[in-house]
Amino acid sequence: MKLLVTGGAGFIGSNFVRYFLKTHPASSILNLDKLTYAGNLENLAELHTAPNYRFVRGDIADAALIDQLLEDRFDAIVHFAAETHVDRSIAGAREFVQTNVLGTYTLLDAARRRQVPRFLHVGTDEVYGSMKPGEFANEGSTLEPNSPYAASKAGADLLARSFWQTYRYPVLTTRCSNNYGPYQFPEKLIPLMIANALEGKKLPVYGDGLNERDWIFVEDHCRALDRVLENGRPGEVYNVGYGQPVANLEIIRRLLRLLDRSDELIEYVKDRPGHDRRYALSTDRLRRELGWNPAVDIEEGLKRTVDWYRGHADWMARVRGGEYQAYYEKHYTRRGEFLTEL
Ligand code: NAD
Ligand code: DAU
Repeated sequence: MKLLVTGGAGFIGSNFVRYFLKTHPASSILNLDKLTYAGNLENLAELHTAPNYRFVRGDIADAALIDQLLEDRFDAIVHFAAETHVDRSIAGAREFVQTNVLGTYTLLDAARRRQVPRFLHVGTDEVYGSMKPGEFANEGSTLEPNSPYAASKAGADLLARSFWQTYRYPVLTTRCSNNYGPYQFPEKLIPLMIANALEGKKLPVYGDGLNERDWIFVEDHCRALDRVLENGRPGEVYNVGYGQPVANLEIIRRLLRLLDRSDELIEYVKDRPGHDRRYALSTDRLRRELGWNPAVDIEEGLKRTVDWYRGHADWMARVRGGEYQAYYEKHYTRRGEFLTEL
């Protein structure tokens, strides 16, 4: 398969690119990424000279660029690129609307005109809004996004739906729960808590810490995306999640135990406005139709994650210090070629 991946320099995108090329070595990937603060090419350092991988720096909302890239024929687009952090969307959501809504539209429109045979739109469980205790969202549940981030992702999902309903353009949408694992940007709960704990800093817990998220190890998400890409039904939505919501405090305490640090580092801070209490998904469709099951439970996943961050202190230092943002200029020519001699 020849794939165009958007947002492949981010957390899940980079894990997916690595996973896909490893499990499908005859495939090739063009990674299109704007390299916002969340994009880090170092995440894919081992692939820059691989013959079946290429990187282009660019914006998914740039219609001329997308059209030009699609002159090359791809078997599918896997669309990760997005603004993703809820707190940033609360501070201001213009970029979220621009990238998540307009950017997704730009890609869909070009892909339809160029007849790219498959389009996998990577969505989130946040579009369903907060679930009551015991309640689980299925793919037919009402969309009730509560943050500007979630609303912009819901807008993207609805555009994807409309391209199937109106044009029969073969879009597949996934809605996944909270991911964790290697290469996650340390603004998100788990890597932020690990980084702070390792530096002996306080761990800021929003509200009472009892908000629940259904944490899934990033590799399990990548396997689910692979299944949906290959065998999912066009026009369909697939929920992806581990299936066991856990309170934030429970996650943080487990991390502190793994890191051998005291619970005294926990600091309760002002709650996030509009903070969703609980995300919970039914993933029956994915399990039944595509035979997918998560392989990594929270105990193993957190251990692997902590081990990875411990072993990559230099990566974390460059990210927290901001040096990672110079990686592109340092390692690529102005024409976008990788400088192999460096
Ligand atoms: P991330 O923030 O780590 O990475 C996003 C990537 O997109 C970055 O490399 C960034 O440079 C790139 N990007 C942003 N705007 C762009 C633009 N206009 N054009 C091109 N590239 C652009 O995100 P992530 O956590 O890896 O999430 C990837 C996708 O998965 C997103 O669509 C997100 O909504 C979805 N998702 C994430 C989670 C999660 O827990 N992280 C869960 C479910 C779904
Ligand atoms: O559910 C999928 C979504 O998960 C993705 O679509 C988003 O892109 C991703 O950012 C994530 O959203 P959350 O808001 O759930 O993730 P975050 O890591 O920001 O927060 C997880 C929980 O931890 C949430 O209840 C808020 C809380 N939190 C977060 C931070 C950053 C804290 O208590 N303290 C913190 O410092």
